[in-house]
Amino acid sequence: MAKQVQIKYTQLFIDNEFVDAVSGRKFSTVNPSNGKVIAEIAEGDKADVDKAVEAAKRAFNRNSKWRKMNPYIRGQLMHKFADLVTRDLEYIATLETLDNGKTYASAVEDVQASVATLRYYAGWCDKIQGSTIPTGDTSVTFTRKEPVGVVGQIIPWNYPFLMLVWKWGPALATGCTLVLKPAEQTPLSALYAAALAKEAGFPAGVVNIIPGYGPTAGAAIAEHPEINKVAFTGSTEVGHAVMAASAKSNLKRVSLELGGKSPLVIFDDADVKEAAGIAHNAIFGNHGQNCCAGSRTFVHSKIYDEFVKQAKQLALNRKVGDPFDSKTDQGPQIDQEMLDKVIGLINSGKQQGAVVQAGGIRHGDTGYFVQPTVFSNVTDEMKIAKEEIFGPVQAILKFDTMDEVIERANRTNYGLASGVITKNINKALEFAQAVEAGSVWVNCYDAVTPQTPFGGFKQSGIGRELGEEGLNEYLEIKTVSINVTKSN
Ligand code: NAI
Ligand code: MG
Repeated sequence: MAKQVQIKYTQLFIDNEFVDAVSGRKFSTVNPSNGKVIAEIAEGDKADVDKAVEAAKRAFNRNSKWRKMNPYIRGQLMHKFADLVTRDLEYIATLETLDNGKTYASAVEDVQASVATLRYYAGWCDKIQGSTIPTGDTSVTFTRKEPVGVVGQIIPWNYPFLMLVWKWGPALATGCTLVLKPAEQTPLSALYAAALAKEAGFPAGVVNIIPGYGPTAGAAIAEHPEINKVAFTGSTEVGHAVMAASAKSNLKRVSLELGGKSPLVIFDDADVKEAAGIAHNAIFGNHGQNCCAGSRTFVHSKIYDEFVKQAKQLALNRKVGDPFDSKTDQGPQIDQEMLDKVIGLINSGKQQGAVVQAGGIRHGDTGYFVQPTVFSNVTDEMKIAKEEIFGPVQAILKFDTMDEVIERANRTNYGLASGVITKNINKALEFAQAVEAGSVWVNCYDAVTPQTPFGGFKQSGIGRELGEEGLNEYLEIKTVSINVTKSN
């Protein structure tokens, strides 16, 4: 049974107040475990985005409290917010499991990772330094790193709270003000974050939350003439639209974190059992709803059959069901649309001749559950080897040589993440240098931490999140040149 929680906030958050949408409209947020409505949420669109941008502009005014605040105090506010998230960790994790369907244990991990990310960026507030540049003895030149201003942030449903924090961390550390749109499937934890930001003491207008749909509220953010930067995480298709909207409106800065079809390559010197475990978690974590999921498992021909056996057993052992049950490994997919998409791709795999080793069908008939699915005998031209499935489907491909696997691993428009499992350091480094991906994980997977940059090559995105690089997306550099006239 799902835990019962009180849903405290269902309205838009603008200028430190919860308010209804201008249109008065609402939309339902649904529990993916049973398809039932959890709450009716105020549905923002362009008129509400305009109001939020006005509030964010006021908060960014040259003489505002936020702009005049000592950066050290800004860091203290971020730590206070992290304290409140820690205080309410169980409540936030419960909201997340209810709204998203991820297991409660992984929701707790997400909130813990969020706290670590907030504290990492809190530490940056008073360390964002420019430089002094030599331009000769008759001048002094220095740079200032200034906040880009009002930023728009559009996030997906797969890690609702963590994605909010990845966006808020660098935006707040640099002193920007923001308007964030959570995914329509998962608005609850973002609205709660808004309440905590107010409690922490952020001035009115610094953070604003507009729940609503992509083509309305999301597009209004991407097109807004007075938003200076937009950060987006989601599909490659919408990434293109966000960039086009920026081009058509005001050339706002754009950072995009899009999908992937990330290769995980396992050489024949690997411990097969250990490798199968890493590969299993790489694809099945968060029900496969992970932008950096290891969704192409390349296994050396010498260990292929043994690997498939192990992978099959791990998938069969995976317990699917109520995400609040501590014995559950896998909850539902996010919604009917994603269930249909995943099942459609599984069926294409069967039709194109891949061999189902485990799963291959929907689990049960209520909620949006899919059986953990393992395909062997997958070849590069199959849809399941090319398209982002975003579900619990492992595709195992066979390879023989380093050159061959590098070429095949890179033969994709994506380039978010990758992994390699081998005891041979030369092989690991050769792969790490040749693979076209923003992250390479050697003898591990998903090694994402707040201090390490994360983002994509090619159509997996533009820019980087996390780490010092993540700050740059929110900064303008100003060069100040001073003429020094010689005194007599
Ligand atoms: P999506 O890209 O449509 O949605 C992500 C966010 O963008 C949501 O907040 C949505 O409301 C917003 N959005 C949608 N259309 C928009 C528009 N025209 N302008 C501005 N914002 C807009 O992704 P969706 O439909 O939820 O999933 C489709 C596929 O995208 C998935 O099957 C998966 O392959 C991929 N995806 C990748 C994610 C990642 O982490 N990189 C996260 C979610 C989905
Ligand atoms: Mg969509």
